Amino acid sequence: MVNKFKELFGAPPEAIYSAAGRVNLIGEHVDYCGGQVLPAALTLKCRVAVRKNGTNFFRVAATDIPARAEIDLSATENYKDLKWGNYQAGVADEMKKAGYRLVGCDVLYDCSVPFGSGLSSSAAIEVATAYALARTGENPIDKSALAVLCQRAENIYCGVNCGIMDQFASANGKKGNALLLDCATLAYEYIPLDLKDCVLVLANCNKPRNLVESKYNERRSEVETALRVLKRRFDVPNLASLKPYQVEEYRTLMPPVVYHRARHVVTECERVRRSVEALRAGRLGEFGQYLNQSHLSLREDYEVTGRELDTLAEAAWVRPECLGSRMTGAGFGGCTVSLVRKRGVDAFIAAVGEEYRKEIGYEASFYVAEVADGIIEEEYVG
Ligand code: GLA
Repeated sequence: MVNKFKELFGAPPEAIYSAAGRVNLIGEHVDYCGGQVLPAALTLKCRVAVRKNGTNFFRVAATDIPARAEIDLSATENYKDLKWGNYQAGVADEMKKAGYRLVGCDVLYDCSVPFGSGLSSSAAIEVATAYALARTGENPIDKSALAVLCQRAENIYCGVNCGIMDQFASANGKKGNALLLDCATLAYEYIPLDLKDCVLVLANCNKPRNLVESKYNERRSEVETALRVLKRRFDVPNLASLKPYQVEEYRTLMPPVVYHRARHVVTECERVRRSVEALRAGRLGEFGQYLNQSHLSLREDYEVTGRELDTLAEAAWVRPECLGSRMTGAGFGGCTVSLVRKRGVDAFIAAVGEEYRKEIGYEASFYVAEVADGIIEEEYVG
């Protein structure tokens, strides 16, 4: 990466930072309903090499694709149409609006989070950008504030209506821990991830992702409808504050689809609470059951899984070495996460991979997840 940087920008970088991709263990499609989520940062990450360039331009390039962009820091609002570089421009734009001091710099991106995998490559790019720009401009650092700013950039500048989970995990994740985040208050705590003789296996269904954003937004408006209806009966700020029985009580007030969406949200919030207790007590078998239930709820009530993710999860459920498996992230494609006994990992990958190929007609890719820190400053002397 250092050599590539020199080749492109004519001098070595001054610093190298990274921000992580994430896997969400449980708490899916509840972040925008004020729920708790339990993601973990991964060793798959976006690394950035940075050097001040003495101009007023933020110049960006990548190691894996030939795309380049030059963003004029005095006109950051003008780059929404960039094919590559709009996330970076969006982050710079939001930082400027928030009063950060930005200085011209050259930044090379090297991202190992597979694009479109549902492991938050875009959040990793945003958070790495925000951190690099904040550090280069010698601003005080507040990782949570940077995460919120990145979410805003994605919402406003890039037009993707995501919640806060991905950026928050990318910034604040901690090695060996899951991050329990209350999305209503942004209070969080670390839950040690002691998986004993198990590991987390990620399976990417490699489905070309399309329509994800429109379907995502459709779900968001359905749960907003549910909240509007339920607010007539309950004085609550968000859906996550309701218990499953309360949604049951008034189900007839809602169109069936809206009721099912709401039911997913409130039952998923319950599963998060129980999962945290199970993990704290080392009851991995029980945690695995909640993973399975979460997938079923996302399949039946929230309808965001699809044939590919269902095939992966169902092939995992029948494996004796697997304690639980579910889709992770927005859905409609992307990855499943499975809790698998270490000694059975090879058999698991072979069997699930084979079943997937047979059913779907192309390969899935597998990674054994390693849980890492969110933002890292690499030791590097330029
Ligand atoms: C995407 C969004 C997150 C969250 C998940 C679903 O990853 O970016 O904010 O809503 O989907 O849990």
